[in-house]
Amino acid sequence: MTGTLVIAGLGPGDEALVTPEVSAALARATDIVGYIPYVARIAERPGLTLHPSDNRVELDRSRHALEMAANGRDVVVVSSGDPGVFAMAAAVFEALEAGPAEWRALDISVLPGITAMLAASARAGAPLGHDFCAINLSDNLKPWSVIENRLRLAAQADFAMAFYNPRSKSRPEGFVRTLEVLKEACGDNRPVIFARNVSQSDEQIKVVPLQDTTPEMADMRTMVIVGSSQTRIIETGRAPIVYTPRSAP
Ligand SMILES: C[S@@+](CC[C@H](N)C(=O)[O-])C[C@H]1O[C@@H](n2cnc3c(N)ncnc32)[C@H](O)[C@@H]1O
Repeated sequence: MTGTLVIAGLGPGDEALVTPEVSAALARATDIVGYIPYVARIAERPGLTLHPSDNRVELDRSRHALEMAANGRDVVVVSSGDPGVFAMAAAVFEALEAGPAEWRALDISVLPGITAMLAASARAGAPLGHDFCAINLSDNLKPWSVIENRLRLAAQADFAMAFYNPRSKSRPEGFVRTLEVLKEACGDNRPVIFARNVSQSDEQIKVVPLQDTTPEMADMRTMVIVGSSQTRIIETGRAPIVYTPRSAP
């Protein structure tokens, strides 16, 4: 008997932003697998086993989930935001590709969630209203030279840019360099949005001109969105609205 494997996104934090499809999958699950703080969001109930694990064991966690599904369990692997954005869906498929042939017969589905980039963008207005790119600033899984090259090319192409994993305690220098590269490559004072803990009780949204940004403005709970050269601010007397027009000049 084989079970099922669902890879689901829990959204940015607010339970109101979990999709009904994901809630239904969680209600059917026999096992929930994921990084400790994401599994902690799932309510315990009889018949459900929670399998929290550390952040650095994505492939082990994926293999464990696949093995349990192959043994007849209904497994949900949870990620924050969307599971396909710098998260568990790709890790599970990496494990599937390298694993035993029988895993390929499993019923596997990916359920989308609201990614932090879109939740942050909505809070600020519409900074991603024209072409944009998303870059993971962590150099845990790729060399820093690749990140820096992509930053320069994105600035040259005049994309708005959304940065995940901007600055951790163990690699503070990457975001220092990111801001140096952007200040040099963009050469203007475009708006930068620092959106921390979006949709949670301690949410903070700051809009700062590029030249005034400092590395301490971001941490691992922050999404950073840098406008393109066309991104504008509407002052309203309340929080500013940041938007990028639909058309390019
Ligand atoms: C490993 S990535 C996972 C992204 C996730 N799969 C998603 O789609 O949002 C983790 C990064 O997402 C961003 N992030 C996740 N949740 C957030 C939130 N509620 N507010 C701001 N940024 C968030 C932060 O940049 C964090 O370092």
